[in-house]
Amino acid sequence: MSDESADRIPAADLPPGAVRGHGDWAVGNRGDDRYFAVSRRCRHQLADLADGSIDADGCLVCPWHQSRYDVRTGEMVEGPRGFLGYHGPTPLYTQLIAAVGKLARLRVRRAVRDGDDVVLE
Ligand code: FES
Repeated sequence: MSDESADRIPAADLPPGAVRGHGDWAVGNRGDDRYFAVSRRCRHQLADLADGSIDADGCLVCPWHQSRYDVRTGEMVEGPRGFLGYHGPTPLYTQLIAAVGKLARLRVRRAVRDGDDVVLE
């Protein structure tokens, strides 16, 4: 039995620039009703991307080491800046993780506005 309300989120909870957790998904609004839903665990060290932010390019930025994701494809477009508790330059490591993140993409669902809700399809 499916629960249709399970994949609906009040649009009022997703103002432009917001990212929220919804089950296994990080759901956000890039502005102009451009919503997205991607799987919630960062490909680097599994940070919760629902705590991330949206940058000026519309990418989802991981809260831990600032890896950037294209939310349309789930691809990591820029690798982490640091690892574990360290935050700072790690050039070769950053490139290596970004290469892995291009292959091991986040899962992506369509998220569209339907009346007062955002629906995950
Ligand atoms: S856990 Fe996301 S960039 Fe490190």
